[in-house]
Amino acid sequence: MNAKQAAAYKAVGHIKDRMIVGLGTGSTAYWAIQYLAEKVKQGLQVTAVATSAETEKIALQCGITIVALDTVDHIDMDIDGADEIDDRMNLVKGGGGALLREKIVAAASREFIVIAGNNKRVDVLGKFPLPVEIIPFGWQHTARQLALLGCGTSLREKDAKIFITDSGNYILDCHFDSIPEPAVLEQRINNIPGVVDNGLFVKMATRVILGCDDGTVKEFSDMQ
Ligand code: 5RP
Repeated sequence: MNAKQAAAYKAVGHIKDRMIVGLGTGSTAYWAIQYLAEKVKQGLQVTAVATSAETEKIALQCGITIVALDTVDHIDMDIDGADEIDDRMNLVKGGGGALLREKIVAAASREFIVIAGNNKRVDVLGKFPLPVEIIPFGWQHTARQLALLGCGTSLREKDAKIFITDSGNYILDCHFDSIPEPAVLEQRINNIPGVVDNGLFVKMATRVILGCDDGTVKEFSDMQ
């Protein structure tokens, strides 16, 4: 079991019968979906909400029941990956472009378990370019406003075309190098007209599970 698999396996162990589960997006969340599918085949009953079209497709293919977020009052437990995690359990997310739905699902969840390889742990957020979801209308103006916050911006592309999110928006990857005050920056970015949301997840994670290359895990409800 590699680091991502080990973290995912441990997280799925927290899921109990009849829970409503949030399913994250990315290569670590992928393993959580696979391990959950195994448990479902063995009789565990869960209902799941997907954070992206890609995750919905994978989950349905392996037999997990997916419902729309608006058909449930709350989510019991959301399991998702991250691009960076600091020691206050603040996150940078959105490397896979699903940050908007990921944040909505995490906010609707009573527990939000973050799973990642140990290498995602950082002292200060910001080395990983911060993804910001923006609406296409006037996107270059939005990019200029973002740059005034002290970052370089690049419009995300995939297969030589502009990357379009599941909600029909663009992503600007913002290169800050260092984000010492994530709560402040999250709000300043979201105050810019044209911005839908950004990949800073501040004080949302309730548990972090970090996998190591030897297959062991470290689990935290407080990392300080
Ligand atoms: C997708 C995400 C992912 O959770 C994040 O990019 C981590 O992905 P991976 O587990 O593949 O490293 O935020 O939008």
